[in-house]
Amino acid sequence: MKKLWEGRFNKETNKLLEKFNASITFDKRMYEEDITGSIAHSRMLAKQGIIGKDEQEQIEKGLLQIKSEIENGTFEFKIEDEDIHMSIEKRLTEIIGAVAGKLHTARSRNDQVALDVRMYVRKEAKEIKKLLFHLEHTLLELSEKYKTTIIPGYTHLQRAQPILFSHHLMAYFQMFKRDISRIDDFLVRIDELPLGAGALAGTTFNLDRHFVAEQLGFSKPTENSLDSVSDRDFIIELAMIISVISMHLSRFSEEVIIWCTSEFSFIQLDDSFATGSSIMPQKKNPDIAELVRGKTGRIYGNLMGILTTMKALPLAYNKDMQEDKEGIFDSIDNIKLSIEIFYSMLATISVNEEKILKSMRAGFLNATDVADYLAKHNVPFRQAHKIVGEIVSYCENKNIAIDDMSLDEFHNFSKVFGDDILSEITIENCVNKRNSFGGTSVKNVEMQIENAKKFLDVE
Ligand code: ARG
Repeated sequence: MKKLWEGRFNKETNKLLEKFNASITFDKRMYEEDITGSIAHSRMLAKQGIIGKDEQEQIEKGLLQIKSEIENGTFEFKIEDEDIHMSIEKRLTEIIGAVAGKLHTARSRNDQVALDVRMYVRKEAKEIKKLLFHLEHTLLELSEKYKTTIIPGYTHLQRAQPILFSHHLMAYFQMFKRDISRIDDFLVRIDELPLGAGALAGTTFNLDRHFVAEQLGFSKPTENSLDSVSDRDFIIELAMIISVISMHLSRFSEEVIIWCTSEFSFIQLDDSFATGSSIMPQKKNPDIAELVRGKTGRIYGNLMGILTTMKALPLAYNKDMQEDKEGIFDSIDNIKLSIEIFYSMLATISVNEEKILKSMRAGFLNATDVADYLAKHNVPFRQAHKIVGEIVSYCENKNIAIDDMSLDEFHNFSKVFGDDILSEITIENCVNKRNSFGGTSVKNVEMQIENAKKFLDVE
């Protein structure tokens, strides 16, 4: 089998090497970037008088034919062609003959692959951003729907203080908003064209790299040819951003799973987004949330994989770098699926408001508010804390809530309590008095919702 690089070789390639060396099975998904990049390169070569205009036209026509062959499924990907770059170039030679050989003038696969993978991850990062916006819309809608629903807030997974369900959802809104801004930052840094770096040192041809950059939607060419072909920071960065998104989704998944237990029963999943058990007829399992949580493992693994591959690699290109693709492709595929299914599931949940309300009586959620009450009546907070600790202990022994105590009982602990104490510590008051900027009061959540709308408007 003929190779594009066969000139200096006197023997056929070993079959096992061919299989081991090939990346075509996974890099074929970059065919569109490869073809778009090649067209831009050929146009620049023609503009600079390096190849003829008619030659460029033949090359472009051939490349477009290959694109449609790939898209209609008639293109044959062969292991012996090694990778998507050589596969396409070989087919181009079959279609237009020897002139195809001019396409690779002033180009190496090293800058070619650097370009393709950059364009591919840039495109996918934008897709991930769109999905995150969709998730944000879903969170906003749910927050509006359940704006005044109160749930217990937790620290250490122990009941802490009452909060609005919408406040809890808007916390996730902030997390995904940061993820969106991380993608935006990433898109700024990735915005440089590596093509034109050649194998490592630049080329002897009079290229117009700014023209190619413009054609391919980059704001400028990279400044250092060695760095251009050696750099995979952008893959690491996206793998890191995806890891953070996955971590956020995993925390959310964990809460959905807990909220769905019989012990909590705070929410119910729609039947279309839950699964059953093959043996236990009563089961309704939150598989989606579990799997989204589970995928975080492989997504972190992909980040560790690429970081470790790049560690200690000397400049410039090394074949190790072919290992940059499968991991990031896997992270991209899985995060896209995870975000999409997660917001679809979320949009259909129902919240068991009554069950939550009932459960709010246990756990002394208003204990801090009793202490705050005393502190506002000039009792030093530390002392107030101790008094309320004693009240909680007393209530625990009597198996009652703080709100069940009479004013006389309150007075046994402190004479400072007035007859407004019970009305001050209702669950609604506990929420709405938390009106410090960023707190859980309805007023604050309304502000968050307004800001969220503004953020989503400029999407
Ligand atoms: N398939 C290779 C990769 O993914 C393309 C670059 C090959 N360059 C080379 N000099 N062998 O990294």
